[in-house]
Amino acid sequence: MCGIVGYIGQNDTKEILLHGLEKLEYRGYDSAGIAMLHEAGINLTKVKGRIAALRESVDHTVHATMGIGHTRWATHGVPSEVNAHPHRSASGRFTLVHNGVIENYQELKREYLHDVNVVSETDTEVVVQLMEKLYDTYQDTAEAFRQAIRLLKGSYAIGMMDARDPDHLYVAKNKSPLLIGLGDGFNVVASDAMATLQVTDQYLEIYDQEVVIVSRNVVEVQKLNGAVVDRKPYTAQIDVRDIEKGTYPHFMLKEIDEQPFVMRNIINAYQNENNELKLDADIRSAMQQTDRVYIIAAGTSYHAGLVGKSLMEKIANIPVEVHVASEFSYNMPLLSDHPLFIFISQSGETADSRAVLVKIKEMGYPAVTMTNVPGSTLSREADYTLSLHAGPEIAVASTKAYTAQIAVLAILAVDTAQAKGIELNFDPMQELAIAANAMEMLTDQKEEMKGLASDYLPTTRNAFFIGRSADYNVCIEGALKLKEISYIQAEGFAGGELKHGTIALIEEGTPVIALATQANVNGAIRGNVQEVVARGANAMVISMKGLEQDEDTFVLPHVHELLTPLVSVVPMQLLAYYAALDRGCDVDKPRNLAKSVTVE
Ligand code: M6R
Repeated sequence: MCGIVGYIGQNDTKEILLHGLEKLEYRGYDSAGIAMLHEAGINLTKVKGRIAALRESVDHTVHATMGIGHTRWATHGVPSEVNAHPHRSASGRFTLVHNGVIENYQELKREYLHDVNVVSETDTEVVVQLMEKLYDTYQDTAEAFRQAIRLLKGSYAIGMMDARDPDHLYVAKNKSPLLIGLGDGFNVVASDAMATLQVTDQYLEIYDQEVVIVSRNVVEVQKLNGAVVDRKPYTAQIDVRDIEKGTYPHFMLKEIDEQPFVMRNIINAYQNENNELKLDADIRSAMQQTDRVYIIAAGTSYHAGLVGKSLMEKIANIPVEVHVASEFSYNMPLLSDHPLFIFISQSGETADSRAVLVKIKEMGYPAVTMTNVPGSTLSREADYTLSLHAGPEIAVASTKAYTAQIAVLAILAVDTAQAKGIELNFDPMQELAIAANAMEMLTDQKEEMKGLASDYLPTTRNAFFIGRSADYNVCIEGALKLKEISYIQAEGFAGGELKHGTIALIEEGTPVIALATQANVNGAIRGNVQEVVARGANAMVISMKGLEQDEDTFVLPHVHELLTPLVSVVPMQLLAYYAALDRGCDVDKPRNLAKSVTVE
């Protein structure tokens, strides 16, 4: 979603801001802007659309020593130049960027800004106008900034410049992510370390309701009452090469290809030298103490949770419920006596999941966050973190995080089973390694998937995915992948459910992709395929070695039946990728979507 970059120092401010914003493009946005402070004042450029357009529009003759930049994903007000950030106060003295949602902006506007001409529709502009009003009262920028921040309700990461103060950048945070990057003779501000990794790997974390005053050589973290806080920096564990595409045309393809390596990383990370599982003892004991696990997640992570439920119930004999985060907050089910919450989130920043986390922590329940970004908001605020070890995922469509989530959920299930003394009749790590090899065989068959995408999905306006049992869970993920990047209207269905309504949509040539990897439902799903074929569907059957039939379109290598989702999702990801390419879609940055959904 929205992204922030700020810089203070003697280097090329403009390039650092633009480069940083380019690195944040993956998060999704619809407009962008930068403001730079130079001798003649503030130079402000905003565009609706891509950073490339911003790059073309900025005044390249400006030599600035401080600046703030922003990518906006519209919430309050349409995507437009006037609604794009940075926003300026009425006199032009204060300029500000903001991520998050100011919940009380209407009240603030009524109370403090009745005589101010607010030009945009955004909640953000209210903050910068408020800042100017409070400056009139306090005559001190830092104090007025703290006072303004105290009045805000909601989520925010804020960067602000005072045109009369070239030595300080003012920063504040609540619920939305924001970091300070430390350099030699300069400092940076970023909503995501990826924006500034090219200039530093040293970062300071900022906590909620803190204000930071950043100068070239000093960073002062303060409480809202002005008390100074001591904070030690940490080294970001992200390799700059991980956030580059290299020779790949798209991040999504790179990330699909990385999946076998991610599986091997996970095996190494969760196993000791004696090949025993190594998991945080506290997580192990929380799993022993609970009578029911509640998995909370959104989108693809929710789909991984559905696979996790069946792994935990079948392997560890623990009842599991999986809930869509945005629903759980407002429609909480009856909870068991000793619930344990597992939040699954690639980014660790999803606002819907965080809202549930805040609520269940207030109720006193334990929480584990399973995330690809240890140190993210969900990871910090839960009791325990399980890391996905997938490396940065840049494409909006989640691929390697999904399979990493399933693998880590499988390991958690196995660890719990072992701790409970349940005997398993298979070697889970060996089966994971076999699945990793199978994934590699599939990623080597891209040409075949490309051909299938153009045979089955060239001009269709809709497509259906059907499967039963574990395959059904993968079908809904396959459908999500296809719709989010190719804009083909796609749905995943339990094979037996089609005839209860949706079969009415099947007409001559409708693509139906059927998964057949589960022995106990192999006959049944094939019956469902016959039903749609009889009504004209163009059926693609993806089966698994050992269960295949002559007429099947594609046969997956055999893996343990509990781990089939790791493998069966790969052709779905590739089909979606090539279908989107065939349609000329922006694969890595699909329309309307954001990588990290930080608004509820
Ligand atoms: O970062 P999270 O895993 O919490 O994100 C959840 C969803 O927003 C995310 O999975 C989304 O559905 C992806 N675009 C799917 O590819």
